[in-house]
Amino acid sequence: MVFNIKSPANIAFVKYWGQRDHSQVIPCNDSFSMNLSHCFTEINFSTLDNVSQKEMFIKEFKHTEYKQATQSEMDKVLSYYEVIRKYLKVEEDIGFTIRSGNSFPKKAGVASSASFFSAMALAFSHAFGKTLSEKELSILARLSGSGSACRSIADGFVWWYAGSSSDDSFAESIAQPEYWDITDLVLVLSYKEKTTSSADGHIGAQSSPYFGSRQKQLPTILSEMKNAFIKKDFTHFGTLVEQEAINFHSILMTQVSPLFFWSDRTIKCIKEIVNLRTKGLEGYFTIDAGENVHLICQSKDAEKLIAHFHKEEYVEDIISNKAAVGTRII
Ligand code: PMV
Repeated sequence: MVFNIKSPANIAFVKYWGQRDHSQVIPCNDSFSMNLSHCFTEINFSTLDNVSQKEMFIKEFKHTEYKQATQSEMDKVLSYYEVIRKYLKVEEDIGFTIRSGNSFPKKAGVASSASFFSAMALAFSHAFGKTLSEKELSILARLSGSGSACRSIADGFVWWYAGSSSDDSFAESIAQPEYWDITDLVLVLSYKEKTTSSADGHIGAQSSPYFGSRQKQLPTILSEMKNAFIKKDFTHFGTLVEQEAINFHSILMTQVSPLFFWSDRTIKCIKEIVNLRTKGLEGYFTIDAGENVHLICQSKDAEKLIAHFHKEEYVEDIISNKAAVGTRII
């Protein structure tokens, strides 16, 4: 059996940070995101007759050749393979070859583990001959350990309900990609890979003195943002997205073993986005767990913003994304 899967990364407008249950990857709060049309993982999956042969080859961003995965990359896939067998109650063992490639730099604040593990959730369940509902697939993707992978499964604009147990912590689409023509310009400031994984970061989240107040505010922020989204009120929506990004990073910077992802380039970028607004070019920033900046704008303004930021010496590259469908066999 041979098949191909394409799965998008996603950018969260309200981010998930902190887990109620680490082993089941149950988050402390709901989150809301958009799947990205030009940041995705493509996987070619072949099952093999020899069940002890399990291998993976990775094509890095902007490379043409596949290289054998490292032992630590392979270990993560094998442990997820066992999680999936257990969840699906599958006795069968299979051999496989995975070829995986990304359209964007990994571990740089664009959710590369989300696109990869959502693709793996569909790949393994399909290889075992299981047809899962979108909800089940999203739960399975969440159990990869990269919780935000569950938001890459469904189409377009996606809500992850935190839930209180494994069965009710899942993501679903609240609007199809065409619902709102907004663009996420990923301003790539550096290709450097981050050194702390989000999994480690989540564990420390609750040590921030501001964690509790963020949790208290989030239900109001989420419902205001959802209203602004439904009304397509871009100014209100963008303002909330920016405030939430700052709140989120305040937690990261104040938790025990703090995480400082912002660099001087990040700050330059933020200031320029704010400055451009005063000149009538409307965009809002959000920043995931990395140095790079996501500039959210209405698609009608994307070209002007791209032209502007291409001229800034601190911007290495720009990836322009509209909202995209979720994980698919292609
Ligand atoms: O998906 P995880 O478990 O690797 O955690 C990452 C969460 C953030 O990307 C930092 C925020 C989010 O909600 O996307």
